[in-house]
Amino acid sequence: MLGNLFSVFSSDMAIDLGTANTLVYLKGKGIILNEPSVVAYKVKNGVKQVLAVGEDAKLMLGRTPGSIEAIRPMRDGVIADFDVAEEMIKHFIRKVHKRSALTKPRVIVCVPYGATAVEKRAIRQSVLSAGARKAGLIAEPIAAALGAGMPITEPTGSMVVDIGGGTTEVAVLSLGDIVYARSVRVGGDRMDEAVVSHLRRRQNLLVGESTAERIKTSIGTAHIPEDGRGTSMEIRGRNMLNGVPKEIEITQAEIASALSEPVQQICEAVMTALESTPPDLAADIVDSGVMLTGGGALLGELDIALRKQTGLAISVADESLNCVALGTGKSLEYEKQLMHVIDFDS
Ligand SMILES: Nc1ncnc2c1ncn2[C@@H]1O[C@H](COP(=O)(O)OP(=O)(O)OP(=O)(O)O)[C@@H](O)[C@H]1O
Ligand SMILES: [Mg+2]
Repeated sequence: MLGNLFSVFSSDMAIDLGTANTLVYLKGKGIILNEPSVVAYKVKNGVKQVLAVGEDAKLMLGRTPGSIEAIRPMRDGVIADFDVAEEMIKHFIRKVHKRSALTKPRVIVCVPYGATAVEKRAIRQSVLSAGARKAGLIAEPIAAALGAGMPITEPTGSMVVDIGGGTTEVAVLSLGDIVYARSVRVGGDRMDEAVVSHLRRRQNLLVGESTAERIKTSIGTAHIPEDGRGTSMEIRGRNMLNGVPKEIEITQAEIASALSEPVQQICEAVMTALESTPPDLAADIVDSGVMLTGGGALLGELDIALRKQTGLAISVADESLNCVALGTGKSLEYEKQLMHVIDFDS
């Protein structure tokens, strides 16, 4: 009973430090923070002064004057700017952990399967210097599968495809561990870039990445609509021919063709994974299908495009944007049973 009480009030937390979004899960409570991984700062006498983090900073992306910079410190799923990433982690930990003077939390962070030892050490260090007592790491595909409720500890093959902002990680799991995993640097960011470059080339229209993301999440699809057009939306950008603002109507079919390359790369990653999986486990996956997690899994008809290309049954996880955070949280809640997947080496 006492143990239960303590676990309810424990301040241990799990963090999904994503390229696009950071989520914090508090043990016994669930996800209590979900904000864009963006930091805005000013440089004064060579020192970076943080002005805004998360939601407030995202509004500044692409809209800052020369004196202010709004950046995303995580790139391709790993830390690209250490100082800024550390500030961001500190900010989020402080925001959810108000009694920091009393108890230092233990923190579990998920890391991409392909992260190098140096990258892992950097993440651990950032978390420790942000005030954690202990920092544990868990591989992202395991967290994604746990969060999606897949039976990963069973002696059967399960395939999870986590499509994030920076990377897509394809993994085959069995008996609680990774049998095969591969990370490709294709995700939501690459899709946004594809939309930007399509509009530039085909429509002479210059738009920023935030606009491209809005187009993708509103009408984006992986599959050319049957009528060759689909729905459409009005978008604004700069006419590259005369430099003045211009508004055009863009169709779903156009966006589908812009997104075809990143979508194809995701399909190929799944095919490669299936080919590299031992035959009995591959047979299990043919039976049980593939689970998609991450924000990219929400792209319209991506499941259909993947099913057509791979012949496998594809499902999109409930709360796909939260799976990794929920799974990392689950590893905290069921630490005893899942001890082998968490790496606490400090
Ligand atoms: N409805 C949608 N359709 C298409 N893409 C979407 C949709 N909703 C969110 N996304 C995209 O999902 C991505 C963010 O997903 P997620 O939060 O899983 O990434 P992340 O965990 O931060 O990144 P990573 O795992 O690569 O570090 C963004 O690129 C966002 O544009
Ligand atoms: Mg992610």
